[in-house]
Amino acid sequence: MSATTTLHRATVKDKHSLLAIETCCFSTDRISPRQMHYLLTQAKATTLMALFGSQIVGYGMCLLPRPPRPARLYSLAVLPDWRGQQLARRLCESLLLELRSLHYSRCRLEVRRSQTAVQNLYLSLGFRPIDELPSYYQDQEDGLRMECTLNA
Ligand SMILES: CC(C)(COP(=O)(O)OP(=O)(O)OC[C@H]1O[C@@H](n2cnc3c(N)ncnc32)[C@H](O)[C@@H]1OP(=O)(O)O)[C@@H](O)C(=O)NCCC(=O)NCCS
Repeated sequence: MSATTTLHRATVKDKHSLLAIETCCFSTDRISPRQMHYLLTQAKATTLMALFGSQIVGYGMCLLPRPPRPARLYSLAVLPDWRGQQLARRLCESLLLELRSLHYSRCRLEVRRSQTAVQNLYLSLGFRPIDELPSYYQDQEDGLRMECTLNA
């Protein structure tokens, strides 16, 4: 089914669907409606969504601070029924391509210590662990910061 899923840039019109994905995919540390509005309008950020027809089934968002600060993969989520079809990988690969075209040399992200499968996805995309983040999440779970070099 992933062959019929296409990637598109999100705009503020997609805010409610993206928030619904946040609610479905994260139990803590969700992006708030106000923050999502800001990220899709005024913030330096880029957001790609995976569409099946007109349905948004997943999305990835990168924050774009002024270089040489690293870009940051801020959110990545795919609806449960659509997982396991390489959508997260496609979203990440497209976002990393865009970061390269914007001349970012590094991208960082944070991931839960317990999410080893997701860490493996990031490892396969070129991210490497750079920091331990004790009690990083709202539920006090530890995190791991990972970084990918983009111009190597
Ligand atoms: C993490 C998430 C985005 C992965 O989405 P997905 O579309 O199913 O991922 P993909 O199909 O692109 O998987 C890519 C690879 O990661 C692995 N992977 C990713 N998440 C996995 C999981 N929860 N369990 C097992 N493997 C997983 C896959 O096995 C796959 O490996 P392969 O390419 O060698 O086959 C999705 O599970 C999700 O939305 N989870 C909840 C939100 C979340 O935790 N986001 C990450 C925050 S850091």
